[in-house]
Amino acid sequence: MSSRGRLAGRRLALGVTGSIAAYKSVELLRLLQAEGADVRVLMTPAATAFIGPLTLETLSRHPVDTDVLALQHDGKIGHIDTAHDVEAIVVAPATARWLSAMASGLATDTITAACLATSVPVVVAPAMDGGMYTHPATQANVARLRQFGYRIVEPEEGELASGMTGRGRLAALPSIVEAVVAAISGAPARVTGTSGRSDFAGRHVVVTAGGTAEPIDPVRYVGNRSTGKMGVAVAQEALDRGAAVTLILANASAVPPAGALVARVETAAEMQTALRALTPPDGPTFDVLIMAAAVADFRPTAVAERKLSRDDGLRLDLEPTPDLLAETAERVRAGTAASGEASPVLVGFAAETGSLKRAPEKLRAKGLDVLVANDVSEPGSGFGTDTNRVTIYTLDAPADELPLLPKSEVARQLLDRVLVRLDSRRPRTQEEPA
Ligand code: CTP
Repeated sequence: MSSRGRLAGRRLALGVTGSIAAYKSVELLRLLQAEGADVRVLMTPAATAFIGPLTLETLSRHPVDTDVLALQHDGKIGHIDTAHDVEAIVVAPATARWLSAMASGLATDTITAACLATSVPVVVAPAMDGGMYTHPATQANVARLRQFGYRIVEPEEGELASGMTGRGRLAALPSIVEAVVAAISGAPARVTGTSGRSDFAGRHVVVTAGGTAEPIDPVRYVGNRSTGKMGVAVAQEALDRGAAVTLILANASAVPPAGALVARVETAAEMQTALRALTPPDGPTFDVLIMAAAVADFRPTAVAERKLSRDDGLRLDLEPTPDLLAETAERVRAGTAASGEASPVLVGFAAETGSLKRAPEKLRAKGLDVLVANDVSEPGSGFGTDTNRVTIYTLDAPADELPLLPKSEVARQLLDRVLVRLDSRRPRTQEEPA
């Protein structure tokens, strides 16, 4: 244990759950100690199948707590003692099961029990198969943990234990150490960006970006030219200003910002599933929804199982996709009426060609607080560009015509307006319109 590191003299708990990445917890323990921390370890029973408690006991120089029902040698209840003694808890690796248990407060292991009983910062680094991580159930659990104020250290994209690749590999250990240092020093979870502001701290912002692709057959799809740049710029700005960000990303070539929880989807139906998971009947799990994605308006009525041959010719029967924004606004209305919580701020985008005159009606018809409209046929304003010229419509102010700006600046101006509405919101009643 170093007496000079950034965690010198600080007491931490390291929770290890039953993932193959449990073997990395030995190295994590040593890195935390190298920063000067005194670390005690908690393990779920499944974690002990991957790594022996004796290893962590020897290295931490503390008994390892593996049994929620056992008492310590001194007669104290281990997880309660830990909850009150430490200055932060870091759970790494955190499995899908553990995230689910924690999201619902199911204290069947020492780590969930300690997290429930404590008021200190909690840092969570998930690790699992890529499909498990992007499943809406896991995403909803992660979003719930963010609501508790837990800091999530996103898993990385890469080779997984199964031999497959995907997003699910435990984050690089130095990133986990950095998150612990930030948590314990009381610094905001995210590094403050160029804006130097943290006015979205404690808010959960959901952003959709990219364009949905609606399959025709296993090879072809009906899609659009969205690259996701605008939505990614909004996600980045929200992160820079301290928000927890969930990014629902459809087929985007733009690179998602580090620090966002990313749910990758392909079709409007998959985006609908992700949005439904975030808007359960007992109330939405976010403070702001920004629908920057270009959702396909039509999809093939049937998807061919085999690749269609050119010789057969092709006639496509299309059906309209559900209006996800209108449906989400409706679910938000029902959820907030049930919970009595303030309604989130809902933002839509409208890509028009030639004229923006339909924008005010879209704002009202979709039940939105803000609508960002642009004319994608204008040079420098639309798909794939780094700039955008938008007009921002809100219910209670005149339309705000912005000049041609970098997308990052459009994102900043948009979030400034969202913040005003966020700060003025109050719980809605069933009778009130959205
Ligand atoms: N949108 C959505 N679901 C759809 C289509 C669009 O949620 N099936 C969202 C987009 O993400 C965007 C907003 O609605 O935030 C406006 O999209 P736009 O295509 O302009 O609106 P439409 O209702 O599809 O209107 P139209 O096709 O008549 O222009």
